[in-house]
Amino acid sequence: MKRTLVFATNNAHKLKEIREILTERMEVLSLADIHIEADIPETADTLEGNALIKAHYVYDRTGLDCFADDTGLEVDELGGGPGVHTARYASEVYDPEANTQKLLRELQGKTNRKARFRTVIALIEHGEERLFNGVVEGEIATSPKGTEGFGYDPVFVPEGAGQTFAEMGEERKNEISHRARAVAQLMAYLNQE
Ligand code: IMP
Repeated sequence: MKRTLVFATNNAHKLKEIREILTERMEVLSLADIHIEADIPETADTLEGNALIKAHYVYDRTGLDCFADDTGLEVDELGGGPGVHTARYASEVYDPEANTQKLLRELQGKTNRKARFRTVIALIEHGEERLFNGVVEGEIATSPKGTEGFGYDPVFVPEGAGQTFAEMGEERKNEISHRARAVAQLMAYLNQE
C-alpha cells in the first residue's frame, strides 16, 4: 500500500514536480486535498522556522505526516537579505518585477554581488522533525536577462553557468536549483526508510 504524505502547499507547479518524483512510492496530498484553506502565517525569522510552522500546522491538526518548504534569496551585500522576506521584498503584495527592480537598485555600483538561493524542507513524521537544505551559489546580474522561470530568475546567475536561471530554461535549472537539491535530500532520506 502506498504511503500518504502531505505537502503543505497549494502551489500547483511545486505539487506537480514533487508528485512526478514521488509517485511510485507515495501518495502526495496538497492542502486543498485535505481541506485546509487557510493561508498559513509565516511569522518566523528563519527559513527553517517558517518551513516548520507550515509542516506543524498540518501535522498538529491532522496527525498526517507532512513536509513543507521555504525558500529565500540571501545576498551577501544585504547581510543575507532579503532571506525570509524574499517573496514580499518590495511590497506587501507579491510583485516579482518590483522585487527584482528593488534588488538591482540596492546593488547599484556594488562589486560584491554574491548571492545564494536556499530552500529548506521540514518533514514531520510521527511527530519527529527533520530538516533538509538545498543551496545554489551564484551572483546577481546587473540587469534582467531571459524570459523563462519566475521570481528572481532573470537576475540570478548560478555559479559557473554564465547565464541567468531565466535564460537557461526549466530543464537545466531543475538539475541544479536550490529546490531540486533540497528535494533530492528529502528523497534520499525517504528512500532509505
Ligand atoms: P517560496 O518559499 O518557494 O514561496 O519562495 C519565496 C520566494 O522566493 C518566491 O516568491 C520567489 O520570489 C523567490 N523564489 C523562490 N524560488 C525561486 C526560484 O527558483 N527562482 C526565482 N525566485 C525564486
